[in-house]
Amino acid sequence: MRILFLTHSFNSLTQRLFCELTRRGHQISIEFDIADSVSEEAVALFQPDLIVAPFLKRAIPESIWSRHLCLVVHPGSVGDRGPSALDWAIQQGVPEWGVTVLQAEAEMDAGPVWASANFPLRAARKASIYRNETTEAAVNAVLQAVDRVQAGNFTPARVPGQAHALMRQLDRRIDWQQQTTAEILAHLNAADGFPGVADELFGQPCHLFDAWPEATLKGAPGELLGRRETAILRGTADGAIWLGHAKRAGGIKLPATQAFPAALALPELPLPGWHKSATPTWQDIAYEEAGGVGFFSFEFYNGAMSTEQCRRLTAAFQWATAQPTRVIVLRGGSDFWSNGIHLNTIEAAESPADESWANINAIDDLAEAILRCETQLTVAALGGNAGAGGCFLARAADFVWVRDGVMLNPHYKNMGNLYGSEFWSYLLPPRVGVDGAQAIMRHRLPMTAPEAVKLGFYDACLPGPGFAVDVARRAAELAAAPDFSGRLAAKVEKRRADEAAKPLAVWREEELREMRRNFYGFDPSYHVARYHFVSRTANSWTPRHLARHRDLDWKTPT
Ligand code: COA
Repeated sequence: MRILFLTHSFNSLTQRLFCELTRRGHQISIEFDIADSVSEEAVALFQPDLIVAPFLKRAIPESIWSRHLCLVVHPGSVGDRGPSALDWAIQQGVPEWGVTVLQAEAEMDAGPVWASANFPLRAARKASIYRNETTEAAVNAVLQAVDRVQAGNFTPARVPGQAHALMRQLDRRIDWQQQTTAEILAHLNAADGFPGVADELFGQPCHLFDAWPEATLKGAPGELLGRRETAILRGTADGAIWLGHAKRAGGIKLPATQAFPAALALPELPLPGWHKSATPTWQDIAYEEAGGVGFFSFEFYNGAMSTEQCRRLTAAFQWATAQPTRVIVLRGGSDFWSNGIHLNTIEAAESPADESWANINAIDDLAEAILRCETQLTVAALGGNAGAGGCFLARAADFVWVRDGVMLNPHYKNMGNLYGSEFWSYLLPPRVGVDGAQAIMRHRLPMTAPEAVKLGFYDACLPGPGFAVDVARRAAELAAAPDFSGRLAAKVEKRRADEAAKPLAVWREEELREMRRNFYGFDPSYHVARYHFVSRTANSWTPRHLARHRDLDWKTPT
């Protein structure tokens, strides 16, 4: 079918639906819901068989839904209606939630139901539920609905429902004196990534994000008790909670100590080393060992890796290479493996160009440490999405295993035509060929895990459920394999031969020469794109590579 997506943005859920439906042979074009007239024009040009709205912030105009079948993805269970669907469910701690695909009509979310899917609701951040459970359920429900539309013999049923109000900051408010850590966590999780909970730090208004429970440290309710790296610890009625990120009025979301430099004067509460803490606490880099394998998790908020985080992770990785293990697995974070350099900390720096330069060098140092590792085989295990430099950083490992369902965006073009680094020019051609490497870098669309493996970019796509267990088993097998020593020796040999043919330093310098031009040159595209990205500027047009009905050679079907 010809399916038009009307959507607020090309977010990860929309990307996933785009890939799944394209894979099934449907022709997809996309229009952002900027204005009714723009949507009407898209419908007139594309003449869709079906319209799907994966992520809408405005109602579809009657001029469209009265003439075309429009299916809206609502992030709530059957019968749930209105905005803030996930926010209410998380804040109230309901045990099960879901996704409903319903037909657009005059009343919001009240149309007949074409399909739905449910899931147990984890106590986690809204953005995490959205990128994982909601996305999986949406894929299942939309595919079922599309099949039903195509079959032509399904009659969608109307169901009675109950509408929620938009959740306001008043509903989200935290009472630091009275509420427990668990209650405060539910409030903060329900508002993360957007809009955060309005509160105060150091007497200044701000929005809070990125909360982590603390199991052992305690203090007076509401008091700021200390800091660890970039996070601040605050007392609750029954313990304490870590606040990782804050957004000051008129500012952008930043690591808490960067948003409030006054926090640097709080007492430091360091962890003793890289080993994973036995009890819940704030720990962005955590190391565990089992069966000759060292596992690193790096829970960097939104997968963004600042200069400091890259330096700490490089130090941790180098420490791990001196441990008596045979394999090191880089697990990344649960939602994102990595999205490359940290665009927010760059934006907030005194000189964004200098900070971009420092950040790209720090991430290249990490990639180089992984590439030069001679003591272990290395695995990048992508259980979460990856974008831009994060996709290429993963390729620095000897093996890349990716969870089926992960969305990859292995390109820099959308960030003001960045050339990119992380040794992509060295790493890609041997795996995908010179033309393949160029095609990946030119391509602006997302890639699924099976596509990445088919191209030769990554090595294995493992099923979604049980991914972590599967990775641990495969890594332990790698460590115990009779030919382990031979494999390690072969990798060291290959690296030395590559070094003799063209040193890593030269590959790096060639990439960084281009990046220097992006950061310091006459063309400000990267700085402009970064500003709009971190400010979350609303779209004012749909890029041509998404709006295929606006291609110059597009012929409106008759
Ligand atoms: N630096 C800082 N923040 C980043 C980031 C980065 N490199 N990548 C993603 N984020 C943040 C977004 O600002 C957003 O923040 P929010 O919590 O305020 O909503 C959040 O992560 C999720 O990103 P979003 O774009 O909504 O997620 P998505 O799943 O729809 O898209 C990407 C994923 C990777 C395609 C997209 O985030 C992206 O293009 N990131 C930039 C990658 C990049 O250019 N890196 C620099 C070059 S190496």
